[in-house]
Amino acid sequence: MTAARTIRIFDTTLRDGEQSPGASMNLTEKLEIAQALVQLGVDVIEAGFPIASPGDFASVSDIARAVSEATVCGLARCNDADIDRAWEALKQAAQPRIHVFLATSSIHREFKLRMNEDEVLARAVAGVRRARSYCGDVEFSPEDAARTEIDFLCRVVEAVIDAGATTVNIPDTVGYATPSQMHHVIKSLRERVPNIDRAVISVHCHDDLGLAVANSLAAVEAGAGQVECTINGIGERAGNCSLEEVVMALKTRRDHYAIDTRIVTQRLVPTSRLVANITGIQVPRNKAIVGRNAFAHEAGIHQDGMLKERRTYEIMRPEDVGLERTDLVLGKHSGRAALADRALALGYQITPEQLQTVFERFKVLADRKKEIYDGDIAALCEQQFSALPEQFTFEGYSLTSASGSPPTVELRVLQNGEPRSVSVTAGDGPIDGIFLAIEKLTGIQTACRDFRVQAVTVGKDAQAEVTVELVETSGQAGSGPATPIQIHRGRGVSTDSLEASAKAFLAAINRVALGSQPRIHPQRA
Ligand code: KIV
Ligand code: ZN
Repeated sequence: MTAARTIRIFDTTLRDGEQSPGASMNLTEKLEIAQALVQLGVDVIEAGFPIASPGDFASVSDIARAVSEATVCGLARCNDADIDRAWEALKQAAQPRIHVFLATSSIHREFKLRMNEDEVLARAVAGVRRARSYCGDVEFSPEDAARTEIDFLCRVVEAVIDAGATTVNIPDTVGYATPSQMHHVIKSLRERVPNIDRAVISVHCHDDLGLAVANSLAAVEAGAGQVECTINGIGERAGNCSLEEVVMALKTRRDHYAIDTRIVTQRLVPTSRLVANITGIQVPRNKAIVGRNAFAHEAGIHQDGMLKERRTYEIMRPEDVGLERTDLVLGKHSGRAALADRALALGYQITPEQLQTVFERFKVLADRKKEIYDGDIAALCEQQFSALPEQFTFEGYSLTSASGSPPTVELRVLQNGEPRSVSVTAGDGPIDGIFLAIEKLTGIQTACRDFRVQAVTVGKDAQAEVTVELVETSGQAGSGPATPIQIHRGRGVSTDSLEASAKAFLAAINRVALGSQPRIHPQRA
């Protein structure tokens, strides 16, 4: 048997993943995800695009300072200002990498850049040289490589390696490639570029045709040594190659690929949940590896087979991706140690101070709900991890409502610690009434773009998890058409679904109140 080679996993959840509509994250959340990625064992964390905004710069530099176990990478277009700014953000990293990109396909050259082949080549070389003047680890991406003429792609790759690129990434920017084409591109580079052995070949596939994972695997089979991917496959448009899928395909079919990664696969589900909760982009139930149904066997014939021999219908063990087979139940008599134990088993490493808060909330929940499941504990821990500075904190509500007439809502919140309340009689129903009361109390006008409720666990007393997406609107309500400015997400969990809705709405309003900076978008730059 041929010896297995180990490939690098380059995670771009914090950069390309953040380009998913509505997925913008704040500094605390990005740091939290970066720490989770370190525990997951990724080799490279693409932390952001430093010149895009002061917020992006701050998150790249904070992650650069905080993370020493993985390479921390910052994106830059092929110009001096971007590259200088990227280095400024990365210079304190233990293992910094500058990632420079420039489009190479004819359609981008002609319509976006208005440059000919020689001009593109010269700009790429100059960008890589400048990046190398700062940093020994430089990645170059010929954007839209999958639609670039192969002869020109070979010329560019050879030139940037000569200029000092240590990784050459081949992006399928628009998700247009097919697996055999991707295999052919990587094979051609390996055969035709004389200095190709001086760089690692990487692949970066988008999922517009649902082929990102298949294309990445084909590239790896052809010799790529790095895969760029995101947790839950989030990213621009239809998203990027999903980290959990590509990693588990390599692990489960090691017999076929003979390829290892350094990923601690038991951390996949906790990391997926963290990213889903922070970004508000929930994972579909049937999503491979991390979806709620990924290991649920419904058909009687399958259940029967599973009882006789697990491998009849299961190609991976749930525990290998961090899913516990048992859903142990805790209750109001369970102690702090049992809770800490369960949290750890679910992948949450909480400090003694965090445990104190989670335990207090656990006791409140246990008074409302007889049995506390793993899903409840995960929700409690996540609430703790993703806590943001809050201007408005939910205190309580009372409500009278009847079909056919607007509800009356009395809402109580703390604003920067000071109690405030409001009463409104308005809306189409209780949830609308609560939202209107919040808008009146906070003075912040929004339009609700998405509202979802789902049960965290099973049973009639299951906690409701509400996620909302709000679009901040300019002007006062009723003063003309709303102008969408930015999407803000919020999440709330409670045994009372109205309370969960109020908490979710307030969480999103707190994000509006925190404000956000305008950013440059790499693909639109
Ligand atoms: O999809 C793409 O081409 C990118 C580059 C910036 C690598 O994200
Ligand atoms: Zn991309």
